[in-house]
Amino acid sequence: MNKQSLIATGLNGLVGSKFASDFAESYSFDRMDISDKNHPVDITNLEQVREVFKNSSAKFVLHLAAFTNVTAAWEQSGDYDGIAYQVNVEGTKNIIKACQEFDKHLIHISTAYVFDGENDEMYKEEDELCPIEWYGQTKADAEQEVRKSDIDWTILRIDQPFRSDIFPKVDVVHRIIEGIKNNNLYPQFTDHYFGPTFIDDFAKVIDWVIRTKASGLYNATSGEMWSDFDFATMINQTLDLGGEVKEGKLEDYLKTISRPYQRNTALDSSKLISQLDFKLKTIQEAISTLK
Ligand SMILES: NC(=O)c1ccc[n+]([C@@H]2O[C@H](COP(=O)([O-])OP(=O)(O)OC[C@H]3O[C@@H](n4cnc5c(N)ncnc54)[C@H](OP(=O)(O)O)[C@@H]3O)[C@@H](O)[C@H]2O)c1
Repeated sequence: MNKQSLIATGLNGLVGSKFASDFAESYSFDRMDISDKNHPVDITNLEQVREVFKNSSAKFVLHLAAFTNVTAAWEQSGDYDGIAYQVNVEGTKNIIKACQEFDKHLIHISTAYVFDGENDEMYKEEDELCPIEWYGQTKADAEQEVRKSDIDWTILRIDQPFRSDIFPKVDVVHRIIEGIKNNNLYPQFTDHYFGPTFIDDFAKVIDWVIRTKASGLYNATSGEMWSDFDFATMINQTLDLGGEVKEGKLEDYLKTISRPYQRNTALDSSKLISQLDFKLKTIQEAISTLK
């Protein structure tokens, strides 16, 4: 099978490495990895970005790279020279510029943290951006840069991604499993909600975007809304871990920290789900694959 060229950032990360391995047969990657020993590409350096684009026949650019440590980003609040702003906003601006110059379609990965978390319902695509901390602010700014550009673009927003296998950067599900097994799981909030994203399925969503040239803004989680407590309890039961999940309150936790915390980051992904040509697993089916 002829592989399709794809320019990509962030393919070593939690999300990107799963796409790279699951779709290694479909795509040949023109990678932009800052940690590459031979050809490091820092997306905050426009010339390094341009060099990759210049030498690539790819029609699509998958942009996953980001500064993703939310607490470390919070410590940089308001710092436009800081690494979080530089990578997430200036890096994305460089990718947009290169897409303009070399006529590429950008697939930009975003987050539910562009919202304040005050909704009682799941967030829809058309809801106004209203970040409450610096990581969310930088990702919202990056989204705005993409949305106001004149290139072809697709934005996929995800929340709390987890995968079927173990990865060095431990995801929400593997953290809960370890906590239950070691009997040191923190009390799980009954008043905090989120929308888990099964990365194995999300990799297929990225492939679907490329296959169908779907453009515009999509919420791209698994489309469900869970409280931390219900989620951990479901994992405990589905995987027969036989441990204990204790209840806690976000409200009490918030009294102990200064960083703002979104109360609800679940995304309504029904627009995406209605257009996909395959079925996403339910969250419980996804957890079952970890057995
Ligand atoms: N993880 C989450 O909870 C979550 C939730 C919602 C949305 N997202 C979004 O999903 C995307 C992927 O997240 P992830 O968790 O997979 O990320 P991750 O594991 O933290 O990986 C981040 C990636 O960004 C790359 N990177 C950082 N700075 C760079 C620079 N200056 N130049 C080039 N590459 C750079 C890193 O490259 P090297 O490997 O070469 O160092 C790494 O591959 C991000 O856009 C993130 O905002 C993540």
